[in-house]
Amino acid sequence: MESILNGRPRLEAEINQVAEVAGYLWQKGWAERNGGNITVNVTDCVDDAIRAMPALTKPKPIGAVLPQLKGCYFYCKGTQKRMRDLARRPMENGSVIRICDDCASYVIIADQPVLPTSELPSHLSVHNELLARGVPYRASLHTHPIELVAMSHNPRFLEKDVATTLLWSMIPETKAFCPRGLGIIPYRLPGSVELAEATIRELSDYDVVMWEKHGVFAVDTDIMSAFDQVDVLNKSAQIYMSAKSMGFEPQGMTAEQMREMSVAFHLPK
Ligand code: 13P
Ligand code: ZN
Repeated sequence: MESILNGRPRLEAEINQVAEVAGYLWQKGWAERNGGNITVNVTDCVDDAIRAMPALTKPKPIGAVLPQLKGCYFYCKGTQKRMRDLARRPMENGSVIRICDDCASYVIIADQPVLPTSELPSHLSVHNELLARGVPYRASLHTHPIELVAMSHNPRFLEKDVATTLLWSMIPETKAFCPRGLGIIPYRLPGSVELAEATIRELSDYDVVMWEKHGVFAVDTDIMSAFDQVDVLNKSAQIYMSAKSMGFEPQGMTAEQMREMSVAFHLPK
């Protein structure tokens, strides 16, 4: 079957990594039905033949004007598509889009006219912001990790850096591998421009943010690294809940032990 991936090993490797992560999301129980979405900025893998490819759809509005994205290309999970299906057939459950010259709309170019995720306003607004800041992050992940979402139902954990401090204190690696912690975004309608705007604001201080009572949104250089950040945070949440279910409040690492980690690993916070 004719595919944009044929003869393009770099692009194929990017999409295969998305498929691998999609499988992990399903295995972890974080991707019920169509839950969660992934976008990757694949502009670096694009050649003249891709730039010349005709659009499969009419331009569709993004819902925001995003000047940094002019002429950029993204692989996007399709809306209503399942991660467990994407894991096996990424080009049937997602598509490659091109941002139009008006910076406010996109067309689908390959392989099939699979409509991108309903969270596209958040994903693309974030990519626009990452490029504007000159950050080398090219992948964004939204998923529904059970224990982290459960924590967001307690108002105490929605106060600034309360959840971050607790999660970092559960096991030393969490601070080392999610060094900017977990930002918090009060509940907003899924797929809304308000959610997108709040997400870009919070991501200036964090790599992973909590969408209250919904899920998390993470960014990193590639999709595996974004997944890793969520995975280490959720592992800490699981340790916290295991201790609570054994009937005690976990002690957590001391402030001195946390400071020692920051110095040893040259961490920003
Ligand atoms: P999509 O199927 O549109 O990607 O939506 C899934 C989701 O998690 C919305 O927040
Ligand atoms: Zn969601």
